[in-house]
Amino acid sequence: MRTRLHALVATVALGIGGTAVAQGSTMDEIAKYREMLADGNPAELLEMKGEALWKKPRGPRSASLEQCDMGLGPGKLEGAYAQLPRYFADTKKVMDAESRLVHCMMTLQGFSETEATKNWFSKPGQDSDIEALITYIGGQSNGAKINVPARHPEEARMAKVGEYIFYRRSGPQDFSCAICHGQEGKRIRLQDLGKLTSQAGAGAAMSTWPSYRVSQGAVWTMQRRLIDCMRQARWPEPSYLADSIIALEVFLQKTASGTVMQTPGIKR
Ligand code: HEC
Repeated sequence: MRTRLHALVATVALGIGGTAVAQGSTMDEIAKYREMLADGNPAELLEMKGEALWKKPRGPRSASLEQCDMGLGPGKLEGAYAQLPRYFADTKKVMDAESRLVHCMMTLQGFSETEATKNWFSKPGQDSDIEALITYIGGQSNGAKINVPARHPEEARMAKVGEYIFYRRSGPQDFSCAICHGQEGKRIRLQDLGKLTSQAGAGAAMSTWPSYRVSQGAVWTMQRRLIDCMRQARWPEPSYLADSIIALEVFLQKTASGTVMQTPGIKR
C-alpha cells in the first residue's frame, strides 16, 4: 500500500512522460463526452427540481425559501453564488452557498440542522434536496463574474486560513493540496488536476461547480468536492459545512475572481 502511494506521489511530482499518447486519447474521449452532453447536461433536470424546491412551502413552518438572503438581499439569487462565501452580519460568520442555504432552511422553514443536512449528498436511490437547490442557486449566477475580494476582516482571515491549509503538508503521506494542484500539467491516473493557485486555473475550476460528475452519475457540490479531496490527501475528513472547507473556498474563489460562472459543469 505504502509503495503504491509513494509511486503515486512520485508520478504526481514528476508528471507522466511515457504515457502521453494514452493520456491524450483519454482526455479526447472526455472532451467528446462533454461535447455530447453539453446540449443536455443531466444536471439541468436537477436544476429544475431545485427551482421547484426553492419555491415550494416546506418544513414545520410551511414556508418557501423565496425570502432567503444569499448575500444580495432576501430573494435575490441572481449573481449571489458568484459572490460567496461572504461575511453575514446576522450570523457573524463567513458562509458559503451551502451553509447559507442550510441556515435558511432552519430559520425560514423551521428544519433542524440534522433534518436539513440529512441527505446533503445523493446516493443511488436517495435524492438530495441540497444538491438540487445548490444546482439551481449556482445556475442563477451564470454569466456573472466570480467576485470574492475578501475585504471584510473576517473574509480576509478565512482567505488566509484557506491559503494556509492549501499549502500545509500533513497527514500520513505528508500531502498538501498544493502537491496535487500547485503546478501546471499535473495528472493523476490520466486526470488533469488543474493548477488552483493561478486565476486561470482556479477560475476554470471554480466557475464550473456545482458539476455533474459522469463517473459518479451525480451532481457534486463544492463542499463534496473539497471534502473528497481532503480524503484524497489522506487527511481526516471534515464534517459537512466545516469552517476549514469554507476557508478553502474563500481562498479559491478569491484567486478565481473575475472568471465568468458557467454551471452546472460536467466533470469526469
Ligand atoms: C492526491 C492528490 C490530490 C490532493 C492531495 C488534493 N486533490 Fe483536489 N483533486 C484531485 C483529483 C484527482 C481531482 C479530480 C480531477 C478530475 O476528476 O478531473 C481533484 C479535483 C479538485 C477540484 C476541482 C477541480 C476542477 O477543475 O473542477 C478542486 C477545487 C480541488 N480538487 C481542490 C483541492 C483542495 C482544496 C485540496 C486540499 C484539501 C485538494 N484538492 C487535494 C486530487 C487531489
